[in-house]
Amino acid sequence: MIIRECREDDLVTLERHLPSGRTRIHEARFHRQQQGSSTFLTAWIDDVPVGHGEIRWGGCAAVEVRERFPGCPELNGLAVWPPERQSSGIGTAVIGAAESIAVRRGNRHLGLGVDDHNVRAAALYLRLGYEETGCRYLDRYHYVDDQGVRHDVADPCRFLIKPLGDSRDGVVEHGLE
Ligand SMILES: CC(C)(COP(=O)(O)OP(=O)(O)OC[C@H]1O[C@@H](n2cnc3c(N)ncnc32)[C@H](O)[C@@H]1OP(=O)(O)O)[C@@H](O)C(=O)NCCC(=O)NCCS
Repeated sequence: MIIRECREDDLVTLERHLPSGRTRIHEARFHRQQQGSSTFLTAWIDDVPVGHGEIRWGGCAAVEVRERFPGCPELNGLAVWPPERQSSGIGTAVIGAAESIAVRRGNRHLGLGVDDHNVRAAALYLRLGYEETGCRYLDRYHYVDDQGVRHDVADPCRFLIKPLGDSRDGVVEHGLE
């Protein structure tokens, strides 16, 4: 497996294997990477995309999370597909790659949000060292259906944070470096 930053010529392949339709989510993530506000990681096996995750360097899109943990980047949009590929270590590898990049860029923490209903993903993150912060928020996003109708969604989530490298001094709200 190879994990690397998304390239412009990956977008057609990503869309073919994980169609986002009119939402154009891969394009949006690539665009943010081009602007420098994120790193869009993609995982590949035999030239087929099998997963992705976006490190948003400015932190969580929810302002209440950003204000509580300023300076903490967020790993967003983590997914492995097709479902038969899940539970074989790809998600763990993408998370590991994101953590390495975050450390290289001088970050001491990485955060991620997990949906209240996503028990299995939460268990994985806790196992990998992400810690409860008690911070709850609504993850707001939208998708555009095949008829071009925009749907706004707000999923109740909680924010987890992992201290990276040797920064085991816990999470200091308003004081993340
Ligand atoms: C959540 C998600 C990203 C995790 O990625 P993943 O590749 O399935 O995760 P991993 O394989 O690294 O680890 C998960 C499981 O596989 C097991 N595992 C890890 N490596 C393994 C290996 N080499 N062989 C067999 N099992 C393995 C882990 O113990 C873990 O156990 P679990 O099934 O009880 O949870 C993925 O399952 C997914 O896309 N789910 C749907 C979308 C989603 O929920 N995204 C997260 C939003 S917060």
